[in-house]
Amino acid sequence: MRAAMTARFPLEPDATEMRHLVDEAMDRIVAHIESLPQQPAQNVEGATEFARTLIESLPQRGQSYEKLLDQLFDELIPRSFNAAGPGYLAYIPGGGIFHSAVADLIADAVNRYVGVCAAAPALAQLEANVVRWLCEIVGFPRGAGGGLASGGSLANLTAITTARDERLGGDFQRGTLYCSTEVHHSFQKAVHLAGFPKKNIREIAVDAKFRMRTDLLEEAIEHDRQKGFTPFLVIGSAGTTGTGAVDDLARLAAIARASGLWFHVDGAYGALFAMTDRGRERLRGMEEADSVILDPHKTLFLPFGTGAVLLRDAGALRRTHSMHADYLPQMQTEDELVDFCEISPELSRDFRGLRVWLPLKMFGITPFRQQLDEKLDLAAVVTAELRKIKGIEIVAEPQLSIMAFRVVKPGLAEKELNELNRNLLERINARKRVMLTPTVLSGRFVIRICVVSHRTHRDRIDMAVEDVRAAVDEVLSPES
Ligand SMILES: Cc1ncc(COP(=O)(O)O)c(C=O)c1O
Repeated sequence: MRAAMTARFPLEPDATEMRHLVDEAMDRIVAHIESLPQQPAQNVEGATEFARTLIESLPQRGQSYEKLLDQLFDELIPRSFNAAGPGYLAYIPGGGIFHSAVADLIADAVNRYVGVCAAAPALAQLEANVVRWLCEIVGFPRGAGGGLASGGSLANLTAITTARDERLGGDFQRGTLYCSTEVHHSFQKAVHLAGFPKKNIREIAVDAKFRMRTDLLEEAIEHDRQKGFTPFLVIGSAGTTGTGAVDDLARLAAIARASGLWFHVDGAYGALFAMTDRGRERLRGMEEADSVILDPHKTLFLPFGTGAVLLRDAGALRRTHSMHADYLPQMQTEDELVDFCEISPELSRDFRGLRVWLPLKMFGITPFRQQLDEKLDLAAVVTAELRKIKGIEIVAEPQLSIMAFRVVKPGLAEKELNELNRNLLERINARKRVMLTPTVLSGRFVIRICVVSHRTHRDRIDMAVEDVRAAVDEVLSPES
């Protein structure tokens, strides 16, 4: 009877079919994850040409599930940066803990609606707890709150829009915003999308450690006031993407308070290091912010798709995002219960809280803290080891777990040095045990190492050092 139904209604698989779907996928997933350390750190030669061959029209008929899985695991997934692997020291890794993947399966399978509290109060509360825990990590007082976004960029947009409404209301065209030259570009994007003219952004120069020059910030605020602008927001970086620099957040908080500015902290990469003793010390002042963003899909090792925006005054988010509609259920009036649609641009959305809640409840915070402590240690180790290699210049010491270096050769002009370092990076990455990415600092092409993934341990850092050493020998040898 049930089999006949499944044949008639293929979108409603029966128990056997459901198990088959999951088992077939799980066999391949487990084999994939177990082989991550042996997989190349990236494998994208010819991948774009291959991608072009995949364009196809809307399928009218179905195909074998097993064949589709094989195509995914054998042909499509391998042709990429191995962002889940231990050798991915590029951009900002996260790794992707498996427990969150299981949570996603549960959340998608039960498909409860958490956009409004009334539809699933207990599940909404579970997600609200996640936000409370993140506020606790940041050091925010009672009364703080926020929500989960798809990532740091959306979290930045939510924070900037809220700050705009709180401080400037509808008349904001003369409002000016202050960031360092090293700020993540999602800030400029958020400012633009929030309706500000791009020319209202003041990019303040950085010091030798790539931190915002607070003396120049104060001058810029004063200068703008005299010109009739309304200085209203300063963003501090709790770990820049380029070099991992942590702005002097305590000083920025003091300046913001004295000048009546909103103090926003971009902690997409760095804020969660506050779980560790060393991180908390380095991030001192973050707890004084009006808003903080952070990315569990970076430093809580979650799969891509989870950022968070946290506000010192939870009510501010509601004041910006709350809208009435007659077809929606009654919204909550108590502070303890949250309607996520009232504090974010989204109405319908995935039940994303579960992917953070499940691993944190299963393990508590300790293994996450240990992992982050290990990353701080590994960044120090890789810096010390690279410093021993003749020709290497450490351009940025790790303030958290990102460092930057380059090779120097006497007699070469800056342009030639940049070419030499481009060549060096290609040679390191060609070995495929690690993947590193560059940035440009005041015209200098430098190579970054970002240690974040929960799968990266000392053995992989030793491989990174070996590969850099071998590549440096090649580019500095008289024959090259
Ligand atoms: C410091 C910083 N801020 C913001 C972002 C944007 O975050 P997302 O990629 O999650 O949108 C990033 C991304 O790497 C980042 O490093």
